[in-house]
Amino acid sequence: MHYKDFENVIIMEHPLIKHKISLLRDKNTVTLVFRHLVEEIATLEVYEALADVPLTEVEIETPIETCTGPVIDGKKLAIVPVLRAGLGMVTGVQNLVPNAKVGHIGLCRDPETHEPREYYCKLPENMDQRLAIILDPMLATGGSAVAAVDFIKQHGCKHIKFMCIIAAPEGLERLAKAHTDVEIYVGNLDRCLNEDAYICPGLGDAGDRIFGTK
Ligand code: PRP
Ligand code: URA
Repeated sequence: MHYKDFENVIIMEHPLIKHKISLLRDKNTVTLVFRHLVEEIATLEVYEALADVPLTEVEIETPIETCTGPVIDGKKLAIVPVLRAGLGMVTGVQNLVPNAKVGHIGLCRDPETHEPREYYCKLPENMDQRLAIILDPMLATGGSAVAAVDFIKQHGCKHIKFMCIIAAPEGLERLAKAHTDVEIYVGNLDRCLNEDAYICPGLGDAGDRIFGTK
């Protein structure tokens, strides 16, 4: 489902994704289960996000004869988690695309201004030849997502997808307007942000819940 007139926004509708997000929201969901759910949702989302990925024909020797068959070139894909919380989605994507290269972008929101601060970045080589999938479970004000896309574009990448689990309308619109060429996959669109720029109803601080830091 698209959001408003934003052609580049896809809101997931699969019941399994909805069900697992409800389990994630529960404040009584413990760290181990939370992490597992984030991984499972990432797998389900990337299945949808890669539906348009191009195929190439390769030769295959079956036990009967030689034929050609379509394959996805995993080497052309880079997955880029936004630290910390995006790390929780990496294994879920690798379950389906084990050969994808992994880059990292370290961004942390300032608690007062809510603006992102960059503290670490390492991307695979040849980003100009890759499809990049940015992973971050939370799209709140959109500051971190816009900064992550800006950074990857500065490294020459021309084809970028952004995958999150929960988005607030404010951040989703900011990202969709700032980067109209980026396809944005959203597990669920929540109601709004609160005065601390947390998503409502949301699930709290994703990084803390994945890593058990609070
Ligand atoms: C969270 C989340 C996003 C960001 C979203 O990270 O994982 O990266 O906030 O907020 P925004 O859309 O308003 O920028 P946080 O900065 O809390 O860092 P952490 O993952 O290390 O906890
Ligand atoms: N980051 C989070 O982890 N949760 C929010 O609700 C907003 C930003």
